[in-house]
Amino acid sequence: MGRGFQMLLALVIVMVGLFVEGVNGRFVVEDNTIKITSPQDLKGSYKGALANFGVPQYGGSMSGQVVYPASNQEACNEFTAGQFKVTPGEMPNVVLVDRGSCYFTTKAYHLQLGGASAVLVMDNKEEELITMDAPDATITDENRTISEEDITIPTVLIRMQDGNKIKEALRQKQLVSVVLDWTESITNPDQRVEYELWTNSNDKCGDKCNMIKNFVTEFRGIAQNLEKGKYTQFTPHFITWYCPLTYVDTHQCQSQCINHGRYCAPDPEQDFTTGYDGKDVVMENLRRLCIFKQLNDSGKPWKWWDYVYDFSVRCPMDGPNGQQLYNQACSEEVMKSLDVDVANVAACVGDKDADKDNDILKREQEAQVGNDERGDVTILPTLIINNAQYRGKLEKNAVLKGICAGFKEETEPSVCLGGDIETNECQANNGGCWEGYNVTACRDTFRGRICECPTTPEVTYVGDGFKDCKPSGPGRCRVDNGGCWQEERDGRRFTACDDSLGGTGCKCPIGFDGDGKQCEDIDECKTMCRCSGCKCKNTYGSFECTCASDQLYMQEHDTCIRKVGSSATRTLWITITILLSVFAFVGMAAYAVYKYRLRSYMDSEIRAIMAQYMPLDQGEPGHSNRMDSEL
Ligand SMILES: *[C@@H]1O[C@H](CO)[C@@H](O)[C@H](O)[C@H]1NC(C)=O
Ligand SMILES: *[C@@H]1O[C@H](CO)[C@@H](O)[C@H](O)[C@H]1NC(C)=O
Ligand SMILES: *[C@@H]1O[C@H](CO)[C@@H](O)[C@H](O)[C@H]1NC(C)=O
Repeated sequence: MGRGFQMLLALVIVMVGLFVEGVNGRFVVEDNTIKITSPQDLKGSYKGALANFGVPQYGGSMSGQVVYPASNQEACNEFTAGQFKVTPGEMPNVVLVDRGSCYFTTKAYHLQLGGASAVLVMDNKEEELITMDAPDATITDENRTISEEDITIPTVLIRMQDGNKIKEALRQKQLVSVVLDWTESITNPDQRVEYELWTNSNDKCGDKCNMIKNFVTEFRGIAQNLEKGKYTQFTPHFITWYCPLTYVDTHQCQSQCINHGRYCAPDPEQDFTTGYDGKDVVMENLRRLCIFKQLNDSGKPWKWWDYVYDFSVRCPMDGPNGQQLYNQACSEEVMKSLDVDVANVAACVGDKDADKDNDILKREQEAQVGNDERGDVTILPTLIINNAQYRGKLEKNAVLKGICAGFKEETEPSVCLGGDIETNECQANNGGCWEGYNVTACRDTFRGRICECPTTPEVTYVGDGFKDCKPSGPGRCRVDNGGCWQEERDGRRFTACDDSLGGTGCKCPIGFDGDGKQCEDIDECKTMCRCSGCKCKNTYGSFECTCASDQLYMQEHDTCIRKVGSSATRTLWITITILLSVFAFVGMAAYAVYKYRLRSYMDSEIRAIMAQYMPLDQGEPGHSNRMDSEL
């Protein structure tokens, strides 16, 4: 046991050594600008380093006034609840506290409970800024467990010399206004965001592992839609370490590493003798990389999220009834269910015992090393968006905000403008936007609220979004009659809205006059029905005109004509009747003559035919001939 323990210690020291070296050498501090807008003599930009916890307002900014508490200046004790809370209309409180005596997360949490909108932690010595991180284990404070998950307000570290200037101004009772600006934290060069997630397939490392698992579960759908829409290019990554040459043959390295100590991961239980070994984790990491490669090559990279999620559900390290399901067999089951080519993945994984490099893992180790813009990846999980290290919670909405900030404005996908990552600015006074007809023009987005006339399945609203939105297009008349005038009288409905007109216009119906919002009955009697002897009566939407007793009103011509039924017409009718009778008589007579002559002709024909076969009465041949010639 003694020797084993010494070895373990040695390995841990080596690993920690690598880790620390990475942090000091290559860790890039993500800084953002703090602008002081008043007092005049402090006006300017100052450096601030974003914490690794809390939720920075990626893509946005926050204005506030700096407050330095009179006591509890390190914020290691709780403040009175709501001490820093502002009433609506008041500038948010950005609370300045001193570094030291307790964890950064503890300070931030106390200030959050106190109602602060953001925290400025002032360094306690003059040095380069560092990135404030959450302690690895959750911390307990007054019987309460605080984890970085609980912190939702942004926290920024500022330099001691800058903090002292602010304190001095506050001592002189000056108003110190600051603007925290996160718009440039993530660059947004184009319409596609590239992001990398460095994780571990290990599912037994406590809070960190659970956080990654929850993130995959929650973010999967969004990630897939972004990828399908070609809005993003996602690449999964895994950290491995190599075993120092002198230790390659130790049991520790053999159980934690594959390919002869080239690729290692820490033991899940931190106990080399039981349960899973580090190399089990390396193997699953490698399978995930190979699966991603295959899916990406076949143009369906988003299915990777399904694999990772399904594996976490179906193949946990601690399965039901103590089953150990985190293994190759279970992984292959999942692959098959997702149509992943198992043989192809096996070929990519290669021989874990071979004393040679694995192309895929070698590339991962190279990618761990940072470049000018970002530092080495040494912390798990690490999210890199557009080649900048993301600082903030690994949580669906916070990450989405970070990704959304990576799009050039106006090119972001709709999920960035949806309610999912809202800023709740629409809650007070509807964000100053138009609202009506049970719909609102206020939309929460990660960039802040926007006033934009809404679209419902039936109707599109058009207008400026602030004061005015009008229903438009087909169906608009169903919404408050398209904002047009309408009136019902005596069972008849009059409306100034006409769907077939399209647009947003209103037009008073016939018989009415006005702009369509207001319509007045026209008194037609003033212009129509002016003939002599006419009597006019105006009605709602129309009029009635009565002419003299033997006359009829023709509205089209606005004139009266005589009614039919006079003696002249009667004479006409009689004439027509007589004429028709004469025609009918003549016609019938002509027909009778024709019929008679036809029969006579037939008779003579028959007689002529019969005459050829039998002698006939000689007395009538002339008659027959005459008939022939005649016809
Ligand atoms: C913390 O727990 C202890 C023991 O349960 C109790 O005596 C103490 O009052 C608690 N402190 C607070 C702040 O609740
Ligand atoms: C995934 O595919 C895209 C385009 O097909 C390519 O640019 C990218 O490098 C691939 N990523 C990996 C990790 O193979
Ligand atoms: C708004 O909602 C109420 C209650 O659901 C309904 O009675 C009313 O007709 C709606 N108004 C419009 C313009 O849709």
